[in-house]
Amino acid sequence: MRRIAHISDLHFGRVDHGVVESLRDELNRHLPDLVIISGDFTQRAKRSEYMEARAFVDSLKAPWFAVPGNHDITFHHLYQRFFDPWRRYRRFIHHEVEPVFQDEELFIVGINTARRMFLELDWSHGRISGDQIARVERQLSEAPSHLFKIVVGHHPFLPPPYAPATRVVGHADRALASFERHGVRLALAGHLHRGYLRVVDPAISSEPAAAPSRDRDRAPDRPPLVVVQTASATSTRLRDEPNAYQRICIENGKAVISSRVWDGQSFVEMMEVNADEEKNLAAGTPEGTLRPETIETAGSEDLALSPENAERGA
Ligand SMILES: [Fe+2]
Repeated sequence: MRRIAHISDLHFGRVDHGVVESLRDELNRHLPDLVIISGDFTQRAKRSEYMEARAFVDSLKAPWFAVPGNHDITFHHLYQRFFDPWRRYRRFIHHEVEPVFQDEELFIVGINTARRMFLELDWSHGRISGDQIARVERQLSEAPSHLFKIVVGHHPFLPPPYAPATRVVGHADRALASFERHGVRLALAGHLHRGYLRVVDPAISSEPAAAPSRDRDRAPDRPPLVVVQTASATSTRLRDEPNAYQRICIENGKAVISSRVWDGQSFVEMMEVNADEEKNLAAGTPEGTLRPETIETAGSEDLALSPENAERGA
């Protein structure tokens, strides 16, 4: 059994310090086996923000695994942005921007989806390159097949179920097809500051755009790949959703995901979802409330992990 805490979009420089303290206390009290941080440690990649972020991860008793986000590249030092964009991340957070984690139960691969620039005005978007997909495929292929496989990036792999036009990470379809073929069970990300779970259609891996199959892990009855997006854990830059993070419990090859949502005083359990049953994700949450609730998995729709989205019937 492994217990993971998934936090994202901390945005030191624009945090609610009370939320940060509560999160730190929760994580150190609950003590997961691993904390996964899916990018955007800072607001503007300033040295002072990175120092705060570093102090936060240093204060965690659990080991942690992280990838950077688009906010972790400086806009103030253009030379550094273009020629050494991950300099501060490597110095203050971790030297490896695409780490790999393996123990007796888990195999986790990080993908750096942030880019120093795009050929458009908005450089906040993300992308996965063909080289990155090939690298992840290689790593997944070499991993023992019995391990529970997770991929972590910053930019979303699928849009929110209630906002299908939302831009996702570049080459998301190709990446998801590859993950699906290689037996990845969870794809974790943040960036949108919105929490939701979505099942990836297994048919994606047979699309023409997909690379040739190397699917030694593939089986017709294989459990689904689930995209897991979480809201910002600590930032005051909220997008209609309160701060939140997720607890993921993995046991006997199954994952149960619960969302811990900030209610203004503390983090409270909002719902629990078994992400591995055939009818695994259901809408139907406590309307507009933050009270703890366990969700009966009665449908196959995607699930919005926030009371706001629940009201929209997502
Ligand atoms: Fe971001």
